[in-house]
Amino acid sequence: MKGIFSALDRQRFIYLTGVSGKKPAIPTDLNTLEALAKDRMSPEAFAYIAGGAGVETTISNNRHGFDQWQIVPRMLRDVSQCDLSVQLFGQKLPAPLLLSPVGVLEMAHRKADLAVGAAAASLGVPYIFSNQASVAMEKVCEVMSDSPRWFQLYWSRSNELVESLVKRAEACGCGAIVVTLDTTMLGWRLRDLDMAYLPFLRGKGIAQYTSDPVFRRLMQEPDDNSAPAPRQSLTLDTLLSVAELMRAYPGGLLKNVRSRAPLKAVRKFINIYTNPALQWDQLSLLRQYTKLPILLKGILHPDDARNAIDLGIDGIVVSNHGGRQVDGAISTIGALPGIAEAVNRQIPVLLDSGVRCGADMFKALALGANAVCIGRPYVYALALAGEKGVNEVIRNLVADFELTMRLSGCRSIDEITPATVVKSELSK
Ligand SMILES: Cc1cc2nc3c(=O)[nH]c(=O)nc-3n(C[C@H](O)[C@H](O)[C@H](O)COP(=O)(O)O)c2cc1C
Repeated sequence: MKGIFSALDRQRFIYLTGVSGKKPAIPTDLNTLEALAKDRMSPEAFAYIAGGAGVETTISNNRHGFDQWQIVPRMLRDVSQCDLSVQLFGQKLPAPLLLSPVGVLEMAHRKADLAVGAAAASLGVPYIFSNQASVAMEKVCEVMSDSPRWFQLYWSRSNELVESLVKRAEACGCGAIVVTLDTTMLGWRLRDLDMAYLPFLRGKGIAQYTSDPVFRRLMQEPDDNSAPAPRQSLTLDTLLSVAELMRAYPGGLLKNVRSRAPLKAVRKFINIYTNPALQWDQLSLLRQYTKLPILLKGILHPDDARNAIDLGIDGIVVSNHGGRQVDGAISTIGALPGIAEAVNRQIPVLLDSGVRCGADMFKALALGANAVCIGRPYVYALALAGEKGVNEVIRNLVADFELTMRLSGCRSIDEITPATVVKSELSK
């Protein structure tokens, strides 16, 4: 068996350590992680991570979408050897798996992005740094050695800030820039609205901004587009929120209280971080800022995939943001065949949203994805067992994928073709 992953070794390890009474740090069923992680987080943190837009139909569509397809295993093909590796943008990955960018990880675990970065690096799985990370990308790089990492960008109202973030990502050795297109404004997220809780207002998830020289300069400038904030009455909650913000911000508490920098940063962030006016032609600006491969995340329509190719974009991520933006949206696995046909293998296609087991990975690859990404499963594993949890969730998912592959008669990723799956009878 080539590569760092071996399903049989993982199985053997779990069963053998079980003889001396040891159980895995996290359960192997990624669907059960959510319920367990709930107990480890504040209600606000859990709502923010688990929640989706509206009545969360997109979240269930993502899951049910995978059930619409079934694998057709083939027999007697000598599956004693199997190669999981894939090439993406000149990098050889040990398996067709990446970690999606997820913001505000400090809500799940105090080591946040540092724990995820270390776990990803220990296995050589690329970690896509979030623009809303809890830890600045430079610090996460320090725990990742030269393991692959990419950077996810939100195109803010300031092109200067966009350029600065991209240049920092280059300096950090990121292998690609992933521009998330589906969040030109926040979705209508009922769980967060009912708790009246948005982490950014508490200074959480804005580390890429507060560590950025352009943002720090912009913080000192007045906003021309700021909507008047509702007057805050001075309650104990207000004071606690302000104290939380002062503590979360880099620098000492006293210094922050005196300079009011955290308040300025949050105000500037709110006014700058999304750009609903963004259009296709603006993306070409990014080419002037970087030579790195550029991927677009949030593509769900074949025509948008064609637009990406026409603009010379290097890859796309079929994603509905884990159901957090548009309620009642198409599942990503449902969108994939049409997009794969439009792309026709001209550029790599990645997929995330709802991937929870090896069979999901297999189906996505069969229907035209070059690799998949996971979001919430590694966040729940982080909440449950920190770096070790993230390491295990990756190992378990890849082991499950490898066995699905081999037991279906596939020895390499190329052999996972459309012919290996059929549309389920029930969905016709
Ligand atoms: C708590 C949370 C925060 C997220 N933050 C970001 C982000 O900062 N940038 C981004 O492009 N996507 C973000 N996403 C979306 C993920 O990158 C990914 O598309 C999604 O989680 C995949 O679906 P899954 O959670 O079902 O695996 C976030 C998702 C969650 C759950």
